[in-house]
Amino acid sequence: MENIGIYVHIPFCVRKCYYCDFISYPNKLEKQKEYVQKLKQEIEQRSKNIKNYVDTIYIGGGTPSIINSEYITEILNCIRENYKVKKNAEITIEVNPGTVTEEKLQEFKSAGINRLSIGLQSTKDRLLEEIGRIHNYEDFLNTYKTAKKVGFRNINVDLMIGLPEQSLQDVEDSLEEIVKLNPKHVSVYSLILEENTKLEVFVKLGKFDLPDEELERQMYWKVKEVLEQNGYEHYEISNFAKKGYKSKHNYNCWKQHSYLGFGVAASSYYNNIRYSNTDNLEEYLKDSSKKNIEEKQSLEDTKKEYMMLGLRTLEGIDISEFKQKFGENPLYLFRKELDKLVKENLLEIDLNNIKLTSKGVDLANLVWEEFV
Ligand SMILES: C[S@@+](CC[C@H](N)C(=O)[O-])C[C@H]1O[C@@H](n2cnc3c(N)ncnc32)[C@H](O)[C@@H]1O
Ligand code: SF4
Repeated sequence: MENIGIYVHIPFCVRKCYYCDFISYPNKLEKQKEYVQKLKQEIEQRSKNIKNYVDTIYIGGGTPSIINSEYITEILNCIRENYKVKKNAEITIEVNPGTVTEEKLQEFKSAGINRLSIGLQSTKDRLLEEIGRIHNYEDFLNTYKTAKKVGFRNINVDLMIGLPEQSLQDVEDSLEEIVKLNPKHVSVYSLILEENTKLEVFVKLGKFDLPDEELERQMYWKVKEVLEQNGYEHYEISNFAKKGYKSKHNYNCWKQHSYLGFGVAASSYYNNIRYSNTDNLEEYLKDSSKKNIEEKQSLEDTKKEYMMLGLRTLEGIDISEFKQKFGENPLYLFRKELDKLVKENLLEIDLNNIKLTSKGVDLANLVWEEFV
């Protein structure tokens, strides 16, 4: 029986960043107690008939680090009481700079959390302000140093490129600062200008200019160059890790392993069925057990999705793993798509693997589109 992952969504934030369209609410922290109560009910109810071992837990948001740390302990205890959590499970929490004290981080550690993901985005205060972050670079440094002092060794730092008014030099400066700190993992996301966000309005009004496609590409290759030079393996389109520190949680998602998602707007994938919870906080607080069954995935869609997810990783698709999982050879099954992508120099195929070329890394969206 396969191991599964658990995702817990904490939908509270101090305030909404201008670019963000994740389900997260500012000014609702007074609901945290009630929310955690409902979350624990959901965690317990869903555990019936689930015998799998849990090898990763990811507490994301929103800003999970702003709720009282005793609630984080309660949530993790509840998971352990109701599921078979492996002793060496990877347990991550997302932390926003400036929202934690040494005591809070200490409590996270005592609760069994062994990985932190800190959202920095940029080391430049003017950019942080422009995108509506609640912190400056110094807040990040304090949080990072406190985390190290408390004993967290496995830390990820999130950065963003393609931000309004961001220059290539800004990106280089951020990278230079970060590699000095030597976190085990760095995620770098290209800004997605989401509909109905403040940032979209600002850009439409001409208040900010976004870097053009060429500049954004240069930023991406600069990220790759600097991080690789400093001992990070580029193992997924947006992710870089020191040896032994790839994110297991993300890796499992790209390998199409099952996971259960708890909390408002959380989704789950179990027995090839996708479920999603309501994205309305009030509705969730009324009844946290209500699920929308989105789709029972057809076998054909499962195979396509496996290709799409696997081609996010730089190691690509292991042909024999595919054969073992689905009893078919992906080279025949997808020969039309693969022929086209190889001709366009977006994919390369060797004896064991199908993977992105460097042009494919640049234009990964075009590759994934073939398997939608
Ligand atoms: C959902 S956020 C949660 C983490 C935490 N709340 C924070 O903001 O630091 C996870 C990461 O997604 C990235 N992200 C959020 N919105 C994005 C967008 N519109 N485009 C690109 N990346 C985005 C940011 O790098 C962020 O750190
Ligand atoms: S802190 Fe994170 S989740 Fe909250 S609004 Fe900002 S980007 Fe979104």
